[in-house]
This record gives sequence, C-alpha cells and structure tokens, in this order.
Amino acid sequence: MQNIKKLIAEAVARCAAAAFPGSELTAEAAVGMLEYPPDSTLGDLALPCFKLSKTLRRSPVQIAQAIADGLGAEADNNGSPIGAVSAVNGYLNIKISDKYLVGAVLPEILEKREKYGAPQGYEGKKIVLDYCSPNLAKPFHIGHLGTTVIGHSLKMLFEFAGAECVGINYVGDWGTQFGKMIVAYKKWGDREAVERGGMDALVELYVKINNAISGNEEQGIPADPALADEARAEFHKLELGDEENLALWRWFVELSSNANQKILDMLGVTFDSHKGESFYTDKMPAQVEKLRELGLLKVDDGASIVDLSEYDMPPCLILKRDGSTLYPTRDIAAAVYRKQTYDFDKCVYVTSAGQSLHFAQWFKVVELMGYDWADGLVHVPYGTVSINGSKLATRTGNVILLRDLFALAVDKVKAIMDEKSPDLANRDEAAEAVGVGAIVFYYLSGSRIRDINFMLEDALSFDGNTGPYVQYTYARTCSVLEKAGEVPACELKISAPEESDLLKVLCRFRERAEAALNDYEPFYITRFILDVAAAFNRFYHNCRILGEQDEAVRATRIKLTEATNIVLGRAFGLICLKKMSKI
Ligand code: ARG
Repeated sequence: MQNIKKLIAEAVARCAAAAFPGSELTAEAAVGMLEYPPDSTLGDLALPCFKLSKTLRRSPVQIAQAIADGLGAEADNNGSPIGAVSAVNGYLNIKISDKYLVGAVLPEILEKREKYGAPQGYEGKKIVLDYCSPNLAKPFHIGHLGTTVIGHSLKMLFEFAGAECVGINYVGDWGTQFGKMIVAYKKWGDREAVERGGMDALVELYVKINNAISGNEEQGIPADPALADEARAEFHKLELGDEENLALWRWFVELSSNANQKILDMLGVTFDSHKGESFYTDKMPAQVEKLRELGLLKVDDGASIVDLSEYDMPPCLILKRDGSTLYPTRDIAAAVYRKQTYDFDKCVYVTSAGQSLHFAQWFKVVELMGYDWADGLVHVPYGTVSINGSKLATRTGNVILLRDLFALAVDKVKAIMDEKSPDLANRDEAAEAVGVGAIVFYYLSGSRIRDINFMLEDALSFDGNTGPYVQYTYARTCSVLEKAGEVPACELKISAPEESDLLKVLCRFRERAEAALNDYEPFYITRFILDVAAAFNRFYHNCRILGEQDEAVRATRIKLTEATNIVLGRAFGLICLKKMSKI
C-alpha cells in the first residue's frame, strides 16, 4: 500500500481536477503541499490553497471549499483514508478515517510485519556503502562513531527498501602511520608487552612516537623531526616488501582489526568486505596511466595533478614528487574496482565533512575520465563530535576511545538498573544494549551535518527523549504481549482517541523511511521512534489494555500493542538499536 500522504494527495488531485477542469495540480505536487499541522484539532493533514489561486483562478477559500466538497463525498467509504474534511480560511483540513486506521492500517502492519513501512524504488538495485573505515594502528575514537552508525543505518535503510547492499570497511591499512609504528616498536616496544597489552600497547606506542616527532611542551618532550624521516624510511622498506617490516605490519593490522571488531560487535555492525587501502596498491598504476593517456595529468612542481580550476576546486593530487600515490589515487582505483566487481547503482561514502573537498575532487576526476557511472558516487558528510569535560579526554593524548565511552555508558546503566530492576536476569546483556544504544540514539538525534557536543548524562537518562526511554517502551510492549496470550478473533474497533493517534503515527513509517533514504538522514527514524514511543505511552497510560472488559476493545488494544512492537522493533533495527524484551 502507498504511504498515506500519497494516497490523500491522489484524492486531492482527483477532486481538484473534477472541480476545476484543466487543473494542473498533480498528485506529486499535492504531496509537496500537504502539511502535518502541529495542532491536529482541525485536521491531521492540511492543504494550504493560497498558491493554487493563480493557476486555478479562484480564491483560496473557494478552492479549499470545492476540493473539500469532492473529498467529503469520498470520506469514510470504500477503504478511503479520508475521514472528515473541512475548509477553513483557505485551508483544506483532512482528518484520517478511524475506519481506515483500524480496518486497513492495523491489519496491514500485522500482516506485513517486518516488511511494513518498506520504501520502494530500490528493488534489484545494488548499493555499495563505504563507512567506518578507520585508519589501523590508530585509536578507534569518538570521531568514528558517526561514519559507523550513519553508514550502517543507511545500509539498513537501503536493504529495507529492497536493495542489495555491500558494506565495505575500507580500513586505512597502509600509509606512513605504519612507518611510525615500526620505528616506535623497534625503539621502545617488545613482543611480550604488545602481546599482553594488545591494542592499548599499540596506542601507547602510537601516542609516544607522535609526541616524540612533534614534541609535547606540556610533558617537556622536544620535537625530533629526524624520527619522521626514519618513519618514512621504514615505510618505504615496507613498500619494497622487507620481510621484517611486512611481518610487523601484518601483526599491527591484526591487533587493531581485532580490537575494532569488539566495538563493531557491541554496535551490531557487520561488513561484507574488509578490503582496505593496501588492497589497491597494484590497481592504481592502470588508472594513473589512463589519466596520462587522456591528457588529464599535469606536472606541477614535480607532482602529478589534475587541474580542476575550471570547476572552482584546487587540483586533485595524483602522484607526489617521488612518484608515490595519494589518498585520491587510491579512492579512484577503489571506485573503478568496485564498479567492476559489484556493478553498483550507487556507491555511498560516509565521512566527516572535513573530507568533502577530497570527495568532490576525485568524483570530478572520475567524471573527467569518462566513467559514465560517476553520477552514482555519493558523499554523505557529517559534523564533528565533542564530549563535554570528560576525563576520558587525556587518557590517550586527547582522543576519546569509543571503547572507553561505551564502557562508561554501560557502567552507568548498570547502576541505574540495580536500582530500577535489581532482579533482571540478563543484566549484563541488557546493560550493554541500553548503554551502547543510548550513545547511538543520542548521536542520531539530530541532523548529521550539525556538530554535536556529547552530554553523557542526557544520553543515559531514562526519562528524556533518549535511547533508554525508547528501549524501555519497547520492553513494555513485549511485557503486555507476553501477558496477553492468545487473543480471540473478533472485529476490531476504535474506542479512544489515543488509539487512532497511535495508528496515525505508525502509518507514517513508510513516509519517514523514504525521506530518510532520500536525504541520507537516519535521524528521521530516530524522531519517528520518539513519536511512536510518545503515542504508545499516552495510549498505555490512558487506556486499559489487559484489564479491559469489552472483548473487542481489549483485542484491538492488544493488536495495537503488537503493531507498535513490530514497527518499533523494525525501526530500532534501522539505527543500530538492539531490541530487548526485558530491561
Ligand atoms: N580512513 C579514512 C579516515 O579515517 C576514511 C576513509 C573513507 N573512505 C574512503 N573511501 N576514502 O579518515
């Protein structure tokens, strides 16, 4: 079934055409004009008719009245979503029909279950998503939260819409940071300590070498630029295949991949490919050659670049003076490989907004190379993250490890749970789901492009518009359903406004999911979840469910709880939030 706004828009267009022969108001245009008024006393949807005045050559008041008359005749019959209609001061106000809500929406949710709300238009499409992609041997920190949860949410949304997705963790497993690590290890490290300390030991070495190269005034460490040359030399040896360095590299990669995997497991994020930067080493020369043949490469101060001044961008750097490749070179080679391997319709990259220029540049280069799939490349940027006054900040030289943040959140949730539900059987599992979920939910509460300042206390509160609050609501639906048992078949009916209000929220799932996909904004789903939770809790507090005497009313309310459980659970899955039946 169509999303409800589209159904109503079609009816509006039909009535406009009947009332005003030659009306050019299409259903698509009407979708764009229909509003959800903040106060729904007059209607659940409203069409302001002022803009139509010009083309239909009538006053807004006359237009609203004429369409209302037409719609009124359709109201409440033949499964129409339109209930009451009124025309007030040039606004057409439409109430959604209760009959439709209980007779069409509710049964549709219960029948389609996990598929209810699925956006359309992506069946059979192939979508590649490049996200998370941390640089290995460096700490996995708070800055990686955005790419990981936004990327994963987009993947879930595309899959919900029927697309076939390939999630790629394009890890930074090549580059001078490995030269630095090799120097640090050879200088200060020993196998046993690193084996014992794992990633912590590596991060310590990483911080130490960076401090040593750039100096650290606070700690009285002078800068030693010669170490940077040593690091470059070690990396060069690695590139030439030096066995000792290769073995160290493999070891570092393994250690940090294993540590990162633990974080990904906590988030429930999985990948279909882990091909990182090193994989593309032998795939770059062909693309560099192609650029040269096309006459796109220019030599500038010894380096090879693609001039983009015509497109108001600085040049895209392809080769350094010493002939070594760069970040864009690798991205171009990787995109060509992905097109050949997956034949994607879209390839989506989720990174911080700081990399927007990088992506704009190499996307342009790919276009100039004549690859006709260049318009399938999409960059999804997000803003910066900071944490207010957290002690975690200094632990590893000014970076906040995601692992530490999660651990802190889980501990705090455990303390709250010990008070609220001391007998919880699955305490550890629940605390992890709620603690990690709280961070994710808070992070995804606003538009991705906004910079956010993390307030841990706010994120973990069970009362506000938070992860714990919505997870608690979900658990509440589970508990009602568990106690309800079998519900005898009977005709369902609406008997309280809270019931229709809840269904009115639930039936917007598809519209919200479609918009989230169009704008690459998982936070539309977060907001939707909050709307569902609020409507359900109002219903739960004001309507008797299990204790209700009237059999049909009781059955309807249990079914409504089940529908909420299905939709909430499905929406949780779209934003890395785990479903817990008890917390
Ligand atoms: N490793 C990079 C970083 O941490 C992000 C990679 C993003 N993906 C890409 N294809 N460039 O900054």
